[in-house]
This record gives sequence, structure tokens and C-alpha cells, in this order.
Amino acid sequence: MYYPEDIVEEVRVRNDIVDIVSGYVKLQKKGSSYFGLCPFHNEKSPSFSVSPGKQMYYCFGCGAGGNVITFLMEYENYTFPEALKVLADRAGVELPKEDLSREEKAQADLRAALLEINRLAANYFYYQLKQPQGRAGYEYLTGRKLTDETIRHFGLGFAARTGNGLYRYLRSKGYGDDILKETGLVTIEERGSRDKFWNRVMFPIMDANSRVIGFGGRVMGDGTPKYLNSPETRLFDKSRNLYGLNFARTSREKYLLLCEGYMDVIAMHQAGFTNAVASLGTALTVQHASLLKRYVDQVILTYDSDGAGVSAALRAIPILKEAGISCKVLNMQPYKDPDEFIKNLSADAFRKRIEEARNSFLFEIDVMKRGYDLEDPEQKTRFYNGVARKLLEFPEALERDNYIQAVSREQMINYQDLKQLVNRLAGRVGPVAAGPGQQASSYRERKKEKEDGARQSQRLLLTWLIEDPSLFDKIEGIITPEDFREELYHQVALMVFEGHRGGSLNPAQILNHFIDDQDQYKEVAALFNASLKTALNSDEQKKAFAETVIKVRKNSLDEASRAASDIGELQRIIRAQSALKTLHISFD
Ligand code: UTP
Ligand code: MN
Repeated sequence: MYYPEDIVEEVRVRNDIVDIVSGYVKLQKKGSSYFGLCPFHNEKSPSFSVSPGKQMYYCFGCGAGGNVITFLMEYENYTFPEALKVLADRAGVELPKEDLSREEKAQADLRAALLEINRLAANYFYYQLKQPQGRAGYEYLTGRKLTDETIRHFGLGFAARTGNGLYRYLRSKGYGDDILKETGLVTIEERGSRDKFWNRVMFPIMDANSRVIGFGGRVMGDGTPKYLNSPETRLFDKSRNLYGLNFARTSREKYLLLCEGYMDVIAMHQAGFTNAVASLGTALTVQHASLLKRYVDQVILTYDSDGAGVSAALRAIPILKEAGISCKVLNMQPYKDPDEFIKNLSADAFRKRIEEARNSFLFEIDVMKRGYDLEDPEQKTRFYNGVARKLLEFPEALERDNYIQAVSREQMINYQDLKQLVNRLAGRVGPVAAGPGQQASSYRERKKEKEDGARQSQRLLLTWLIEDPSLFDKIEGIITPEDFREELYHQVALMVFEGHRGGSLNPAQILNHFIDDQDQYKEVAALFNASLKTALNSDEQKKAFAETVIKVRKNSLDEASRAASDIGELQRIIRAQSALKTLHISFD
């Protein structure tokens, strides 16, 4: 829902950032800021700073930064409305109520009831496991080397042979057939009602907030189906949920381990790899990938080592890449899955395999290679062509070249030959790749460098102005917010200039405007913090400032002249360009 800006700002102002962050991170005062160990990356000496003056945090190590609202969003993985609600409650600010239509209200109530029923069912199964009728289930789980602590942590349970024990239990709690029908936990028929799960060990499936949304039940021993899962319901959408994510999301590792099933997740967590998750009984979907991307940029695939696992990995890799996640593949040989691997070797051996996990592209090449008989010259040639074609997937010349080097080294293909083959294919495939376009690509790279330079100057200038508002005098009549051509910087500049004019430059408030987009607020937070230690006191820095001002203005004029549509405008720009040549910024 949409919250008006003044409410967001009130909630922010009423929650002091040092108070909030202190609840999570041990802080120590140093000068005007507080420092502590960054909760967003692993470190041994504190580079995480909290500024009471700016009401912002910033990590000099990993670049995490923001205001009190984004801190909760990042630390607790809350959405913006969730974080706002927690902070509003804490400070006693009343948020405007959502205006639900009657239909929406009914839907929300139904969802809440279904969640409650699933929670009750999980309790019921868990209770059964410890009863005499659950003994077989308990023995099955301990036989698979799960500890009592693990059983409790994952809320594992047992569905007994009674046939309708759960149904009767839920009826006794006051739920009628109509709603029970929607849970997928029971089948309601005229002759009587039966539980869906019968004589199985039960795995409650939780969403990222640890609410039970469905179940998987495993037969004890051999039988089919091996796992029976809740059907898709209003709560449970297989393609959007990952088993174990409720725990994994707080593990603070930079990557998640992605595996195939319940027992693998549980075995890994028990062995200390609490960043493991699984997509259950379904191939990885685009929705899964974007869910993963909310938490990490890196995934290590720990799928089964059999043919099905390898195909699943080959299907998952492009989906992850497309979502902007880089991925590696863990070698499970000679075992079938993480559960068996850890049981037979050790957690340490598994950790070593994590460290050695293979780059996903090189993994794809490995798999491709198995399809050819390399003793046969013709097949060998086809393999090389396949490799070259695959290398064209990298649009950036530099990255592609790194891979050409890696592949030629590993597959013992002559580097120059492989590179030529790639370039020849590129010419045929067309403009997607560099083409015979060595030239085209280096032109593109030069252009990119130039853009980066312009961006960098704008960023630097903004940072300086925020840090030392007395510099506004120096750029008076030279720079306006319109000179910040980079869209994000332009938006920030408008607010910074406006704030300066009004005598109140408020970084944490400005940040509120970018809260919807993590990449944006991180970058803006960096602007506000990057220069904490670089006041302009040396002559060299003053010179750098003057040069930056001129660069920003020049770039702005160059762009304006490219976009100019009439002669009058162009003449004005040309006059401004020549005036810039004689400009001198004085610090005296
Ligand atoms: P596996 O057959 O690899 O089972 O299925 P597993 O995880 O190794 O199970 P154990 O160790 O024999 O107990 C992987 C995942 O695929 C789903 C389940 O989520 C399972 O964990 N699956 C498998 C089903 O949903 N139904 C099935 O019948 C089989
Ligand atoms: Mn297994």
C-alpha cells in the first residue's frame, strides 16, 4: 500500500538510528559516529558506521548503507511496509489503515484462517511424533541421523495410521468442512472424511516468515509416492516458495546452497550449513530465482549427482543467470546427494567441496564434452564448435576473453585457435557478439569508459557538496541540478540543492525517496557517506574539486549540444562551452 511521504518521514524521525541499530550490532562511539562489526558481511575489525547527525549507517567495507527504515529491511529482510509498520508500532505512530473492500477483507480473513489451520496441523503432527503411535516415525527420523534438536527446529512430525485423526482434531477446534476443504490436508466425502497424509513422517513447509503453508510427507521405507506434498492452495505456491528459506535468510552468508529436497536441506542445516534451501518437487522457476535474488547474488547448486540432478542444474543455471545471480556447481561424487555425502564423509569434507565448487559455465562445458567422443576428429571438431558457440553467450569482450583463456587452458585447446574460431562464428552470428568487430567492441568500451568518468565526476561532486555545504558558494552560477545528467544523481541533486537553499539538508529524509529500489538507496547512501574523511584541506584536493566541477559542467554541455534542436540553443551552448575554458574556481 502507498504511504504518504510525511507519514514515512514521521516514522523515520521518531526512531533514532543509533537506538535501532544498537539492538542488533554492538556499537562504540568514535568521534561523532558509532562503529561496529558490519552485520551485512563477515569482518573482524569494525568498518560499519552509524551517524547520529545524518541518521544514516554506512559500511566502508561492503558499501551497505541507508537510513533506519532500510536497515530493518536489510537486516530482517522486511519489505518496506513491514519495516514501516514495525517502526511505527515502536514509536507509537498510527499508520493509515488500509481501506479494504469487502471482497478483499474476506480474502484476507480466509488466508489468516488457512494459516492458523496449517499451524495447528503442524502442532498436531509434531505432538504425534512423540506419542506411542508416532514411535515408528520417530525411529525413522533418528535412524536417518536427525537429532532431537533438528527435529524440533524443523518441526518434523508424524501422520499416524488413524485415517482421520487430523480431521477430527481440526473439527474439534471449530473449523467446518468448507474451510477444511481448502487446506488440502483432508478429503471430505459423503461417506466420511479422510486425512490426506497417512503413516508418513511430516515436514512442515514454511514461508520466509516461518509461517506453515503446507506439508511434505515421506513414506517410511520404500513405497510410492516417496514424498506426498500438499496440493497448491491459496497459501502454497510451489513455484514461489523455497524450503528452508525462513532459516537460510538469516544465515548472513553471501551465497545460498540450493538443493533438491527436504532431507538435503535438513542434513545441511544440521551440519552447520544453515544457508541451504530447496525447491520442492519442482524444477527451479523464474519466481524462485527472483526470490533468491532478494537475499543473495550467488548460489551454489548442490543437486543430486545423477543424470536427473545434472539436467536440473543445466536448466537452473540460465534461470539464475537471467535473474542476475552468479552460480557455481558443487561436485557431489561419489555420493548421490548432500545428505548422503555429509553422512558418509563429513561436514568438513562438504565445506571443502563448497570452496571448490565449479564455475557454472565451465560445468556446462564439462557436461557438453561428455556428449562427444574426442578420439574421433570429426566429433572433436564439433565439440570445439559447440564450445565456441557457447562462448558467444558473453556479450562483453573482456569477460569472453577470460573464459576463452580458461576453457583453452582446461580443455587443452590452443588459445589463439579458439579465439579465432569464436570471432569467426561471431561474424556469422551477427551483431550480438563483438563481430569481426574487435573494433566495434573497443569503441563500445571507450564509450563506456567515458560514461563512467562522467558518472564518477557527478557522484564525487555531489558527495563533496553534501559533506561540506560551504562549497555551494564555489559553484554558484556554474552548476545547477540540471548539470547532473545521470538520472539518479539528478534526482538527488534536486533535493540536495533544494535542501541547501532551505537551510536544511537532510540525508536520511532524501533517502526515503529511493527506498523502493535497493540498488538506488544503496548508491544514494554511499553518496552521503563516502567522503567522511576527505574534507578539502590540501591544495591538491582543492584542485581536484575545481577540475571535477569543470568536468561535470563540460559533460553536461556536451550532452546538451548533442540533444540541441535549434540554432539559438546551440549558440548558447557553444558560448557556455567557451566560457568554461576560462573559468577559474578560487578558494581564497
Ligand atoms: P529424491 O528422490 O532425490 O529424494 O527427491 P531425497 O530428497 O533424496 O529423499 P530421501 O533422502 O530419499 O528421503 C528430491 C525431492 O523431490 C521431491 C521431494 O521434495 C524430495 O525431497 N519429491 C521426490 C517429491 O515431491 N515426490 C516424490 O515422490 C519424490
Ligand atoms: Mn536423499
